[in-house]
Amino acid sequence: MKKIKIDPSPNAYRLLNPGAVALISVGDGKADNLFSVTWNMPLKRDPGMVAILSGKGHFSYPYIEKTGEFGINIPSTKIAGAVLGCGRTTGSKVPDKFARFKLTRQVSEKIKAPLVEEAVGNLECRVSQIIDLDASSLIIANILAATVVEDHYKDDGWCYDNGLELLHHLGADSFAVSDHEIDVKIPEQ
Ligand SMILES: Cc1cc2nc3c(=O)[nH]c(=O)nc-3n(C[C@H](O)[C@H](O)[C@H](O)COP(=O)(O)O)c2cc1C
Repeated sequence: MKKIKIDPSPNAYRLLNPGAVALISVGDGKADNLFSVTWNMPLKRDPGMVAILSGKGHFSYPYIEKTGEFGINIPSTKIAGAVLGCGRTTGSKVPDKFARFKLTRQVSEKIKAPLVEEAVGNLECRVSQIIDLDASSLIIANILAATVVEDHYKDDGWCYDNGLELLHHLGADSFAVSDHEIDVKIPEQ
């Protein structure tokens, strides 16, 4: 898949705009891991800023604490099984989730963690603030770099013209799919 580089600000946050489930990649240059995250959100356009909620007990969590970095990889339905798998297994038992779920490492530009090649969009993030929420942390981060599949990007945001299918987690093993866009007009009075 040919990906184009886009500026981390002011529009890279739009890759998260439809509230799609994401695969978080972590790594320190020696080892890496992946986990799934439904609770993610854009926070600021410029500089691009996002937040994810991560359980502190996740195998991935110390990587984020130690490196201050992580990748956000936005999957399409093509890798839905891997998204569920990465969210249902822990790196403490599955040492290489990339291999286990047949995903390819995409080299990052600014962070040590690899990205997921099969994802349709990728954000490289550096932690700016961690807010303690007992068992979880709200992790706020700046977007340092971003890539997106060229065919799926138009007018500074997602383009559904070429078969894009994004995944939205409904809970348990269920997901909704967004696969088209509509133009909306404000009703006349
Ligand atoms: C679809 C899906 C969405 C999830 N969303 C979140 C989330 O938003 N935040 C979170 O901390 N864990 C979430 N999880 C759970 C983690 O992905 C899961 O605990 C994972 O096994 C942690 O991996 P690790 O121990 O290898 O780091 C989700 C799991 C699934 C299947």
